[in-house]
Amino acid sequence: MTGDSTDRSGDAREAGDGSGDLMERVVNLCKRRGFIFPSAEIYGGFRSTYDYGPLGVNMLRNVKDAWWRAMVQSRDDVVGLDAAILSSPKIWEASGHLANFTDPLVDCRNCHERWRADKIGDTCPNCGSADLTEARAFNLMFKTFAGPVEEDATVAYLRPETAQGMFVNFLNVLQTTRKKPPFGIAQVGKSFRNEITPQNFVFRTREFEQMELEFFVPPDEAQTWFEYWLETRMAWYLDLGIPEDRLRLRHHEADELSHYSAGTADVEFLFPWGWDELEGIANRTDFDLKAHAALSGEKLEYFDQASGERYVPYVIEPAAGATRTMMAFLLAAYDEDEVGGEKRTVLHLDPRLSPYQVAVLPLSKNDTLVPLSREVLELLQPVCMCDFDVTQSIGRRYRRQDEIGTPLCVTVDFDSLEDKAVTVRDRDSTEQVRLPVASLADEIRRRLTR
Ligand code: GAP
Repeated sequence: MTGDSTDRSGDAREAGDGSGDLMERVVNLCKRRGFIFPSAEIYGGFRSTYDYGPLGVNMLRNVKDAWWRAMVQSRDDVVGLDAAILSSPKIWEASGHLANFTDPLVDCRNCHERWRADKIGDTCPNCGSADLTEARAFNLMFKTFAGPVEEDATVAYLRPETAQGMFVNFLNVLQTTRKKPPFGIAQVGKSFRNEITPQNFVFRTREFEQMELEFFVPPDEAQTWFEYWLETRMAWYLDLGIPEDRLRLRHHEADELSHYSAGTADVEFLFPWGWDELEGIANRTDFDLKAHAALSGEKLEYFDQASGERYVPYVIEPAAGATRTMMAFLLAAYDEDEVGGEKRTVLHLDPRLSPYQVAVLPLSKNDTLVPLSREVLELLQPVCMCDFDVTQSIGRRYRRQDEIGTPLCVTVDFDSLEDKAVTVRDRDSTEQVRLPVASLADEIRRRLTR
């Protein structure tokens, strides 16, 4: 066993030691350890797009799985959907996106940079000039052509939100699942917006992932369900480790509301640049179902056979960003402390979100330790994501796992060959206990699910 003890006093958020801010450290860690890479980096990058590396893909999947478990698996009133990304202009005509999904765009006449008028003051943030054009509406949807001919009849859009897939499939889902309001349709997937100024790493990008629920309710229950979802969604972030003092709800003012909303509140996280949105929870009323009914000619209603009542449900929509939320989890988890007199970087991620839950580490590269280590690895692989690392000193390997948030390290040493036991080290406390290999899988499962 290696003896290491922690000193948690060195919180990087408060470090103020001049060694770079939290955002810079997390972005560097993401690149250095394989969470997130700038896309097409060998060609100099491509327009604020990002690729999720070996660790990032695990973590992003875990964020989405945690959402799916809470929103679909653990409920009998929500079902899932995976709708097409490439979508008919009719959808966006009915939803109002073709007319309304715009940001105000201004050009700086001096340096020719373009900006979102509502995000800057009266001067260009690049050159300081006040010589800006009048703001004009810029539609954020990506337009393309479905088929070999580029003409009006083949125009298609990459969806700017997953939500519309749920509205246009409302009848299909109703008929195939026999659900009745209150019930929801959930979807996780990519959305695309031609943002004028993507910024803050993966906080605002042109290609991103959303996790959205459209929850259909009788109109007179809308306010109750709106409040239910505000509370439920806040609890989800807290349960997965966002500290209470870095999470808040902010209700929109009337002039901030989207064209479809009768009430919206944002779940906000305290990012390094201030409070900003993680998720919007909206009362979308019957706007979308009525709009699609009007354009398609289909009756998008619910008929209650028991009461003989026919009505268009209201929709409460918790709409979160998977990629943005992953970034918030990373920022909240990042820490620097001291272990055994040595500085370490550690991600205190909830084990459900960590890229790997366990690292199996043979104490040395010695051939005699590797077969048993592989046995242990194969025992744990069905339980969780495991890393296997044989190079460098054991202390260095613990630090490498701390830095990527692996909650448990399992070390196989020479005694293991005799006593068929291994050392299990906890990332946060750095405590080590000796456990028999025979009960290891059960014990790891117990620790990861508590
Ligand atoms: N269906 C409603 C809807 O799409 P939204 O507030 O525009 O609402 C929901 O988006 C969430 O999607 C946001 O709270 C954010 O987390 C994420 N999101 C939106 N635009 C994004 C972007 N350009 N980059 C990353 N995430 C984004």
